[in-house]
Amino acid sequence: MKIDIITVLPELLESPLNHSIMKRAQDKGLLEVQLHNLRDWAVNEYGQVDDYQYGGGAGMVMMCEPLAKCIEQLQQQHKFDEIIYVTPDGEQLNQSISNQLSLKENILIICGHYKGIDQRIRDHFVTREISIGDYVLSGGELAAAVLVDSVGRLLPGVLNDETSALFDSFQDGLLAPPVYTRPAEFRGWKVPDVLLSGNPKLVEEWRYERSLEITLQKRPDLLSE
Ligand code: ADE
Repeated sequence: MKIDIITVLPELLESPLNHSIMKRAQDKGLLEVQLHNLRDWAVNEYGQVDDYQYGGGAGMVMMCEPLAKCIEQLQQQHKFDEIIYVTPDGEQLNQSISNQLSLKENILIICGHYKGIDQRIRDHFVTREISIGDYVLSGGELAAAVLVDSVGRLLPGVLNDETSALFDSFQDGLLAPPVYTRPAEFRGWKVPDVLLSGNPKLVEEWRYERSLEITLQKRPDLLSE
């Protein structure tokens, strides 16, 4: 899968995408992420990519021209399956959206700044708008990093033990069960006996029951969907 990202702050994305599992995905050739600095398509030699908004009001708006030219240049290299604008007024990201996106070949993500991007880019290029939650970040970069991470780890072969993504919270509509590691007793606090029983069927049943219980307790909305 290839993900292109348009940003005015590539530095903000470099670290999250070049460590841990995202680094491994790229090293293995399963994921390619390419950052494009929008200032390379600026309207003048000062690197201008934003301007005052029509109708007045505080805050700058990212201009059509640099974005349109950048997108069109990238479209000559690939046909994008989705052109995603990360924005607080988009549909809220969840595991089902990440699963859908993990099946795509080429995705372009646009990171906004200031007041956002000119509506005409949203109307004419963007195919999907995604928010990572009901709060406002200073720009789209951290949201793009979250999106790429949640999609990238689902690509076949990225996680060492491929089954581990299957047991993630949300993957089957439930929160994950609790996990324990050695020692079996710490300060008198014991690991549940069933996990030491060596009986995989009992362990699986226990995990499923705990998942249901925890989901009912913390996120009953997930059970009614
Ligand atoms: N840009 C700013 N805030 C955001 C959010 N919550 N989700 C996605 N993109 C954003």
